[in-house]
This record gives sequence, C-alpha cells and structure tokens, in this order.
Amino acid sequence: MKAFGTRAGGRWQPSRWRRADRGADDLPVGAAKTARVRQMFDTIAPRYDLVNRVMTFGLDRSWRATTVAALGLPPGTTVLDLACGTGDLSALLAARGHLVLGVDLSAGMLRASHAGAPLVQADSAALPLADGAVAGATCGYALRNFADLEGTFVELARVVRPGGRISLLDVAEPANPILAIGHGLWFRRAVPLLGGLLSDRAAYEYLPRSTAYLPPVRELRSMLLRSGFSTVNHRLLSGGLSQLLTATRVGRP
Ligand SMILES: C[S@@+](CC[C@H](N)C(=O)[O-])C[C@H]1O[C@@H](n2cnc3c(N)ncnc32)[C@H](O)[C@@H]1O
Repeated sequence: MKAFGTRAGGRWQPSRWRRADRGADDLPVGAAKTARVRQMFDTIAPRYDLVNRVMTFGLDRSWRATTVAALGLPPGTTVLDLACGTGDLSALLAARGHLVLGVDLSAGMLRASHAGAPLVQADSAALPLADGAVAGATCGYALRNFADLEGTFVELARVVRPGGRISLLDVAEPANPILAIGHGLWFRRAVPLLGGLLSDRAAYEYLPRSTAYLPPVRELRSMLLRSGFSTVNHRLLSGGLSQLLTATRVGRP
C-alpha cells in the first residue's frame, strides 16, 4: 500500500512520493510554510472572493451552506469560524443566528472581511480562547494551509465544549475518472491562468499544488479521533469537488 504521509514529531507531513508525484517536492513546511501562506493570502485578499466565485462557478456557496447546516447547532450558540478569511462562512453562520468569532492568520484577509463578525488575528494551533469557549467551529478550505494540522485539531478540541460540533470543508478530487480528468485540467491548468488574470499567478499555481498537504480521509479521521472528537463523518460534495468532515467533541455537554 502506498504511504500517504509520515509523522515528524507526531505530526503528519506530506509524503515524499505524494509531493514528488504532484511536482510539489519544494512545498515548505513548519514556520516557512506559515510565513508563505500568510504572505500569499495577504496578497490575494482584495480579489479572493471574486476568484473563488469564478473558480467554482459559484458552487462554493452551496458547499458553504451545507457546512453550516451540518453543524446542527441551535441559533444563539457561539461558533468559531477558523481561518475565516474574508468571512463567507461567518456571514452564513450569522444569518443562521449564531454568534460568530472569526480567526485568521492573515491581516489582509481579515481587512477584506465582509462578515461583520468580531475578528482576531491568530494561528490555528494557538487559539486565544478559553477552554470550552465555543459550541462549535467551522473551517473552510484551510486544512491544507495549516503548518500544524494535528495541533490545530487539538486546539479545536480544547476550545469546543464537550458535545460541541465541528464542520470542516476542503477541496477533494472526484473518484469518477472522467470527472477527475476535467477537474485536474481545470484546477491545475485553468485556475492558475485565471488567478493570474484576476489576481496573483504564483498564488493560484500554489493552490492546486497545496492539495499535496491534505492527508487522506482515513488519516484525517484518525487525527480527529486522537484529538478528542468522536462520530467523525466524511462526505463528498458535488461528486467529489469538495469534502466535508463533521465531528462531535467528546464529553458530556
Ligand atoms: C483558502 S482561504 C479560506 C478562507 C475562508 N475560510 C473561506 O472559506 O473562504 C484559507 C485561509 O486560511 C488562513 N490560514 C492559513 N493558515 C492559517 C493558520 N495557521 N491559522 C489561521 N488561519 C490560517 C489563511 O490566511 C486564509 O484566510
């Protein structure tokens, strides 16, 4: 069986074959990755929403709505939108009656936020929140950007109260071979061109390559279980264009 990744200091790292396989051997890790990701999102923040809409043909709106609904939390509960970016998920959470707190690493993305929620600039692996401070958390398209993914899951387990819920949305690859070819061409060839026209070419070349950071589902599931979550559920959206992971914080509410 192919190895998808290795553990360094207990943390998952993209495997050599997988990175090489995708021409992504030079992807940074650790502090270098955090610095590059922050700088990249600061650069693309002003046109991030526009490129997102065009790149997904607007489908991301329905994936985000599914993410928020999958939390299954009542209105009035406090929800952390981790790596909130410009606030698309935060706005949907607020529209459902949640009290939202947005956290993101990039000052540029926070400045471009349209959500109207309170915002904090922080790293996902060191959240400035008390234990059990929130009833739930969402995270949209950021898992592969975190330098310390397992550390982030541990932090989420710390700040989400027992019985609380998390809903994590990210990119995926369609299993259907025809869809996979079309998706590969679009994501790896057209998106960098489009990104170059509308925003920053280097950032939108990095985007498809950064999927090499994303562990396979079984590893994501084990990481969440180890971090303090149960009932981990995984589903593909729109035939595998995106994926959604949900889980419940272990412990009595
Ligand atoms: C692709 S954007 C997604 C933004 C938003 N969640 C959405 O759904 O549109 C990824 C976001 O993750 C943020 N991010 C990356 N690494 C982070 C970290 N270590 N801690 C907090 N935010 C981080 C980036 O600044 C960026 O805003």
